[in-house]
Amino acid sequence: MGTPIRSGSFRTATERMKLIVGVFIGVVFGFFLGVSLPTLSLSKMNLPSSLLPSFDLTYVEDKYSNLQNRKMSNGLPRSNGTKIWVPTNPKGAERLPPGIVNSESDYYARRLWGQVHEDLPIKPKYLVTFTVGYDQRNNIDAAIKKFSENFTTVLFHYDGRVDEWHQFEWSKRAIHVSVQKQTKWWYAKRFLHPDIVAPYDYIFIWDEDLGLENFDAEEYLRLVRENGLEISQPALDPRSGYTWQMTKKKNDSIIHKEAEEKSDWCADTHLPPCAAFVEIMAPVFSRDAWRCVWHMIQNDLVHGWGLDFALRNCVEPAHEKIGVVDAQWILHQGVPSLGNQGQAEDGKAPWQGVRDRCYKEWTMFQERMSQAEKEYFQAMGITPPNSSTNYFG
Ligand SMILES: *[C@@H]1O[C@H](CO)[C@@H](O)[C@H](O)[C@H]1NC(C)=O
Ligand SMILES: *[C@@H]1O[C@H](CO)[C@@H](O)[C@H](O)[C@H]1NC(C)=O
Ligand SMILES: *[C@@H]1O[C@H](CO)[C@@H](O)[C@H](O)[C@H]1NC(C)=O
Ligand SMILES: *[C@@H]1O[C@H](CO)[C@@H](O)[C@H](O)[C@H]1NC(C)=O
Repeated sequence: MGTPIRSGSFRTATERMKLIVGVFIGVVFGFFLGVSLPTLSLSKMNLPSSLLPSFDLTYVEDKYSNLQNRKMSNGLPRSNGTKIWVPTNPKGAERLPPGIVNSESDYYARRLWGQVHEDLPIKPKYLVTFTVGYDQRNNIDAAIKKFSENFTTVLFHYDGRVDEWHQFEWSKRAIHVSVQKQTKWWYAKRFLHPDIVAPYDYIFIWDEDLGLENFDAEEYLRLVRENGLEISQPALDPRSGYTWQMTKKKNDSIIHKEAEEKSDWCADTHLPPCAAFVEIMAPVFSRDAWRCVWHMIQNDLVHGWGLDFALRNCVEPAHEKIGVVDAQWILHQGVPSLGNQGQAEDGKAPWQGVRDRCYKEWTMFQERMSQAEKEYFQAMGITPPNSSTNYFG
């Protein structure tokens, strides 16, 4: 390291001058490095020499070690002798120099050849996932065509059939994840970690039985942005058969954020299912909302029942930032799919076992949520407000 200093003899004043200027710049550079990355012990870093500037960093380090010592007592990132330790790095990565830490990833497929920076002519900004069985291929093929090249597509295969999908041109560019007999929320918890899907502004986590004739994804997102919706869904065509007024398409609006239900269903007009509510069949999350929702998904409660009522915990104010887009709507076709992947037990049909489990999970989720809230408020010494999972008044 520090080749000019080591070389010793200088023939001309010009050369000496160059060196002095070089050292000066080096000291300044080193100072700022030391200030911004005080934990780095530059002299002992095992870098290829071609990467190092041509001045002696040992000197810089000695000169400023006092400064670093002072910082130690301030609780700032610090150097322990020659070891790297950066408390502000992600947990477990403290030994790495921050410049090398890649704490987030993406679903961008790369090439095995060529220039790295030319791998991705476009970086899709949105992510759409469908949880699919091969029987629904034609519906999914039609659906995918409603999503532009600005979307990364991820298919979760619950029936183990993957290769057959490659009959569709787009399938070769999609990400396929195949684990048999798992649900949408099971996959989402495992394969859509917020740090993995970090580059995407919006994330669609959709069922396979949706009719998208009246839906355009780019236009949908334009409306979502314009109206500041962090969690949304397209309205359901009333012909769909719908469960909640909130998700039913309204004729005379672009979007809506509240609806009227039977009077005893909503404790408050700002509470689900009258507002702050979308269903789990076709939700769209902003990056930030998804980061929160992901944490709320339970590893063992795979059907996600009850999650829709709890989404409002993730955005504030929920009745403003959760809404339904009427201008872009979908048809819920209600094709029995995963239901049939259940198992016949006690003389009950497979779908019955699945449905029973759904209700069971709903109860468990509510209980866990109110328990967690109670514990929190107790620990804080606060009288808890009415539970957010106390749905029906
Ligand atoms: C430095 O590291 C050693 C062992 O790795 C440890 O015993 C010591 O307490 C550390 N000193 C500081 C100031 O962190
Ligand atoms: C994709 O995104 C770019 C940049 O936002 C936009 O100009 C383009 O129109 C989008 N493509 C489609 C099909 O909407
Ligand atoms: C909604 O629009 C349809 C036609 O597009 C019409 O037949 C229907 O009566 C309208 N419903 C309401 C509640 O306005
Ligand atoms: C909490 O719930 C009780 C009944 O369960 C109701 O009387 C009260 O008004 C509620 N309080 C708030 C702040 O919503």
